[in-house]
Amino acid sequence: MAICVGIDIGTSGTKAVAIDARGKILAQAIHTYPCYHPRPLWSEQDPEDWWQGTVATVRAVMQQARIRPANVQALGLSGQMHGSVFLDTRGRVIRRAILWNDQRTAAECTEIEQRAGGRQKLIRMVANPALTGFTAPKILWLRNHEPRHYDRIAKVLLPKDEVRRRLTGVYATDVSDASGMLLLNVARRDWSRELLAKLELNRDWLADCYESEEVTGNLTREAAETLGLTTNCRVVAGAGDCAANAVGTGIVRRGSLSTSVGTSGVMFVHSDEPQIDPHGRLHTFCHAVRDKWHMMGVSLTAAGCLEWFVQQICAELAAAHPTMDPYEVLNREAAEIPPGAEGLLFLPYLAGERTPHADPLARGCFIGLTLKHTRGHLTRAIMEGVCFALQDSLSLIRGLDVPVRQIRTSGGGSRSPLWRQIQANVFGQKVVTIQSEQGPAFGAALLAAVGAGWFRSVPEACDATIRVVEETATQRAAKAYYQRAFPVYQQLYQSLRHDFSKIAGLESTR
Ligand code: XUL
Repeated sequence: MAICVGIDIGTSGTKAVAIDARGKILAQAIHTYPCYHPRPLWSEQDPEDWWQGTVATVRAVMQQARIRPANVQALGLSGQMHGSVFLDTRGRVIRRAILWNDQRTAAECTEIEQRAGGRQKLIRMVANPALTGFTAPKILWLRNHEPRHYDRIAKVLLPKDEVRRRLTGVYATDVSDASGMLLLNVARRDWSRELLAKLELNRDWLADCYESEEVTGNLTREAAETLGLTTNCRVVAGAGDCAANAVGTGIVRRGSLSTSVGTSGVMFVHSDEPQIDPHGRLHTFCHAVRDKWHMMGVSLTAAGCLEWFVQQICAELAAAHPTMDPYEVLNREAAEIPPGAEGLLFLPYLAGERTPHADPLARGCFIGLTLKHTRGHLTRAIMEGVCFALQDSLSLIRGLDVPVRQIRTSGGGSRSPLWRQIQANVFGQKVVTIQSEQGPAFGAALLAAVGAGWFRSVPEACDATIRVVEETATQRAAKAYYQRAFPVYQQLYQSLRHDFSKIAGLESTR
């Protein structure tokens, strides 16, 4: 039986799924690893952990589904976007990778805009403004702050492409992930030599750019042995996790939009042209579908807020309910609380915020606390605040006259029926889920299936394999309440904006 495997190098862990020729998931596995925060708002990971996660999850799916090594025809890669893996001339990792939700590069973003000749000129070159999470500012940060590391750079790779290097020995990337480096001419789907020259960065440091379903190489003998596969196994270019998730949820035509509530929150809409938000609030990137693009808004902490709450604030939950999943307990408590959490609001900016504020100094807040509020209220307010943040992106997308006929929701947070219900009510439109919960890994497996020749195109692969399994309709009273509450939520950031920078000032003078 022919098999393809999708691998997603996520922030909380690596996930792998094995699919058959009809797109049925035969096995899935996850391997978690730490994220390091050496300073507030810094975020780093060790690329070796991604490799160990890849080996562990691929071996696990092979074992679970009793797959014969020779049957695995292709691997597809997906990964957290924007992370910077700095390699020296011998392919050694120079320092820990700096991640998508790291906020250290505000000064370098200003430097990039200046070197480009202004924000509008930059947007014309690479379709996007300079944002702290993107890769180019990280390269400049290394030049400005760690010159002894910068002087050793021979290559700069994105997370999934570092795993590809270890699988195939090839330095390659795909157009969707490359878009998030801020060095790609997104309209032409190739590196921007113009911006590279202005930033005095070396084109040879960057990998060659492929369309997502193109084969970039085969497994090396060593990698095949380590993974328990064969050297006939091909590795396709794959996609950044947002575009891979869109493929895995079937967002490959105009009118369809997906929202993902994972560590980050993403509102993703397909586009037939490289349409650009003139204010640069939404990202415009290449899609993992040939000659197509997408726009998206990204909230830096979505399900990550609840994860923080469970780990840091509710640590006693696991001890009190040893046989129960702490998220299950919190969901039950939150479901007892009415919409609006009795006047409690939450701003989910625990790692600063990207869309729509592009503000590394924004902070998380509970606002409106009273003695009446319980843990259930706090949980509900977190879920609602995350949905409001996504609604900010949805409003921008709707404002650009992009049709939104269906919203497909995915990601860890969307497994909760309560969170899905809040999404439908806040977005004011029903949300649907599809059969696979592993959006990015499943999308990567579908890209591998196209590369292996099982389907003629990515949309054809999606049509053949993706089914809507559940719909969550809006509820009239709750929808009306959120329509009134959303402007209040939006106003809170405006009211606190200047205080956030004062707080940051206090921190730095401590
Ligand atoms: C997208 C982004 C995040 C990461 C998380 O621009 O920064 O969604 O890709 O994995």
